[in-house]
Formats: sequence, C-alpha cells, structure tokens
Amino acid sequence: MAIYMNNGATTWPKPACVPGAMADFLTKGGANLARGTASDRDLGALDMVLTCREELADLFGAPGGDPRNITFTSSVTESLNVILKGFLKPGMTVVTSSMEHNALIRPLRRLESKGVIVRIVECDPEGFLPPGDFAESLEGASLAAISHASNVNGTVQDLEALGEACRERGVPLAVDCAQTGGILPIDAQKLGLVALCFTGHKGLMGPQGIGGIVWSPDFAERTDWFVEGGTGSFSEEELHPSAMPDKFEAGTPNLPGIAGLLAALKWIRETGMENIRRREEALGALLLEGLKALPGVAVSGRKTMEGRLPVFAVNFDGRDNAIVAARLSEEWGVETRPGLHCAPLAHKTLGTFPGGALRISPGWFTTEEEINQTIHALKGVLS
Ligand code: ALA
Repeated sequence: MAIYMNNGATTWPKPACVPGAMADFLTKGGANLARGTASDRDLGALDMVLTCREELADLFGAPGGDPRNITFTSSVTESLNVILKGFLKPGMTVVTSSMEHNALIRPLRRLESKGVIVRIVECDPEGFLPPGDFAESLEGASLAAISHASNVNGTVQDLEALGEACRERGVPLAVDCAQTGGILPIDAQKLGLVALCFTGHKGLMGPQGIGGIVWSPDFAERTDWFVEGGTGSFSEEELHPSAMPDKFEAGTPNLPGIAGLLAALKWIRETGMENIRRREEALGALLLEGLKALPGVAVSGRKTMEGRLPVFAVNFDGRDNAIVAARLSEEWGVETRPGLHCAPLAHKTLGTFPGGALRISPGWFTTEEEINQTIHALKGVLS
C-alpha cells in the first residue's frame, strides 16, 4: 500500500464527493455551457458553473463578491500566462522574487526577450522575500507578480506586507496561490490584488485540468486576451466579446473539472479551512521533528511550522536525493518528489541547485502512522 507524501505535486486522494460529482456530471448532466436550449440539463450546467464561480468568489474575496470576476483556465500555469502575456508590454518593468516556479519565470523570460524588463528580488536562504527589499524594487514597476508560498520548501511570503508595499506605490500585485489556495485564507479584495491565480488540484482538492483567475475588474479591462472563439454569448459578433467572464473563456470549458472543483469547494467549506490548516500544520510538525532528529539530513527553510506549509525539501549527507526517493518508493512504498520541482531559481536561492532536493509533502488525508512510517523508511534507506 502506497504512502502518499507528494501532496505538493497534487493532493491525493480527493474527497469522495469529487470523483462522485464528476461522474454524475458526465452520466446525468453533461450539457455544454450556454450552448443548448433551456432544458434541465442545460440549466444544470449553467447553475453548476455559476455556483462554482460564486464559491470561488467567496473563498478568495473576489472584488465586490462578483462571480464575473472569476475566469477558468486549465491550470495556474495558464492563468499566469494569461495575465503576464496579456498585460505586460515591451518597456514595462515587472518585479518578481527569486523563489518562483517556472510557471511564472518561463513566461517572464519569454517576455524579457521581447523587451519587458524583469526585476528579480533575492529571497533569503530560507526562501523568504524581505518586504523591505521588495518595496525598494517597486520603483517604476508596472506589475509585481509573486507566489504566495514555495512549492519547493513551503516558505510562505508575508502577503500583507507585500500587498501594502504595492498599494502604497500604486503597483498592481498579482499572486500565484497554487500552494496555498484552500489552506491559508487569502482575500484578494482586502489585499488589493489585481489577479489571484489558482489551481484546482492542490489545496483546493479538486481534479487536475482546472484552474483560474480572480480578477480586479480594472486589471481585467487593461489585460489583452489571446484566445478567441465561441463563448455561447454575443454570437452575432465576429469579434470576441470584452465582457467578463467571456473575455478570457473562449471554447467549451472543462465542465467535468468544474463539477469536481465545485464539490471540492463545498467540502472545504463544510470541513472548515481553519481545521484543514491546523491538521496539516500538526502533521507537518510531526514530520519536521522526525526529519530534524535524523542524522545527516538537512531540511531547507523554516525549522518550525511558523511561516511555512508542510512541504519539506531535504538533502542527505553523501546521498543523491533521487536515489533516496527511488528507494523510498520501491522498498517502502513512500511516494515523494526528488529533483528541481520545476523551480530551478528557487533551488538556486536555497543553495540546492543543480542537485535539487527530496520533497516530502503530507496532506489532509495523511495519517500520523504514515508520518511515522515515512521516518522509519528514511532511517532504513539511510542506514
Ligand atoms: N508544481 C507542482 C509541484 O510542485 C506540480 O510538484
């Protein structure tokens, strides 16, 4: 039986209501969105999508609570591409951090080759972005874009301080919440975010293939779109509509994904995000203590659960992290993720490039027994 310690990559298992809702949609619902008549199945699809936008607007504090400020994408990577490539023009300056995932860095490097100025603020060796350094770097910037927490070692940024620095200087702030959505409270309106990019399949507990953006209406208006097509609306027009949410949603959406995400969002509301956070923190504390007690094991980042998620990047004296990961999996059934985690810049910041690290990430469904077994397995591999 596998011990799943790779929730940083995707949470698993999902609450049973998630695959249940997806199967129900495909077998009993299944209508396209706004592309039929007003049959019960047509109305069911409309209602499902609107309810999902409403749940997201509520969870993430969308401006005015307006569900039209939520647009769906296939992933947080697509969300970041949409906002960065749609907003930034040659000559503009964008500020980011040295802890970013390739989902943000690669589009920025492409934009840099087209004349956008990319300013990267160094994080400390634990991966924390000093708000003072960030504030100083904002001079003349058109946008700041950062992740809320690292997918490599779980360090959480001080979003309130970073948001305040941006508000004071009038710089729009976009945030990648891939690792924190569904676990930490984030209020886009209170923080003054212009775009909050999320994925459905990590802390939001939904399926893969669904993500989105929570927009401020003003930023949505100033952002160009690059996918055009059918929207089930304004069909008399040959030009793509600029009305939200249609502006950023051409083509048939991932409706089974939205069905699963909606079920997951309701599960989070019923379970209580604070309960989820506390449980994950307790599991993280247990794992962290076990890791710190192992000789020859170096844990990257924070050494307590303060300011971090239960996402641990570890290295081993004289051992290759990929070999340790393979042995954990093959001999003990413990699933982790070694290597660079699609975040070479973050590993450079943490001093773990190019070898990377072994990432161990428990989740809501992890048991204390599984944490103990993971530590036991590591002892076995390292002995
Ligand atoms: N970004 C995901 C990870 O950290 C997939 O593994």
